[in-house]
Amino acid sequence: MKKLLIANWKANPDSPAHALALARKIHAGIPLGKDVDVVIAPPFPFLQLVGGALTRAELGAQDLFWEDLGPYTGEVSWRQLKHFGVKYAIVGHSERRALAGETDEMINKKVRAALEAGIAPVLCVGEPKEVRKNGIAAAKRYVAAQLEKDLDGVRKGRVAIAYEPIWAIGTGTPDSPRSAAEMIHYIRGRVPREVRKRLRVLYGGSLMAANADAFLKEPEIEGALVGGASLNPRDFIKIINIAKHYG
Ligand code: PGA
Repeated sequence: MKKLLIANWKANPDSPAHALALARKIHAGIPLGKDVDVVIAPPFPFLQLVGGALTRAELGAQDLFWEDLGPYTGEVSWRQLKHFGVKYAIVGHSERRALAGETDEMINKKVRAALEAGIAPVLCVGEPKEVRKNGIAAAKRYVAAQLEKDLDGVRKGRVAIAYEPIWAIGTGTPDSPRSAAEMIHYIRGRVPREVRKRLRVLYGGSLMAANADAFLKEPEIEGALVGGASLNPRDFIKIINIAKHYG
């Protein structure tokens, strides 16, 4: 299956000018064919500018709010995002679970709102270090509990899931490709059959140009959610070319 690569810029870069320059550099390296799907998820204030620079990639948001309009200070709703041409929204990233106190109930509302709006949710799941040190079976139980709550009531639609072990994010220490593939295989099996048809399960957590091949050559790993390396156009383009090869 064609791989899906999502650039998660987080709170980077510092200015609209730098965001546009980064988007243009990445865009110039996206191959013309249809062998790989690329999504760029900039911070909200840069969505319009970055969206205008992309024809061979889709625009993603890093979050979305489940209500359409109203008294929700600081939130950005699915309805507003749709006006910018947002096609994917990262939901339940571990940084939002930790920093913004997002619960599985909130994440479930976001997943469902995204699907209703025709935006593909990119649901992030993954275990903390304390859980993983008890072995992969413990990690699977943790992730299964997240999936059950986060996908409650979801029966169909285009969904992506990113398996992002928290201890691997931004640390330079990724999971091993074999155990990521094992977890992804497990995740796929926990998703309702109808959703599985259009599902892609990605790996995220210190995926870089230097290790991308080892991950993306695993058939179970259907793409990647890339943080740090997506801020370096040369590295991200290398990852795109590797993904293309396995598409
Ligand atoms: P990283 O981040 O690639 O910098 O580890 C991945 C993510 O948090 O989505």
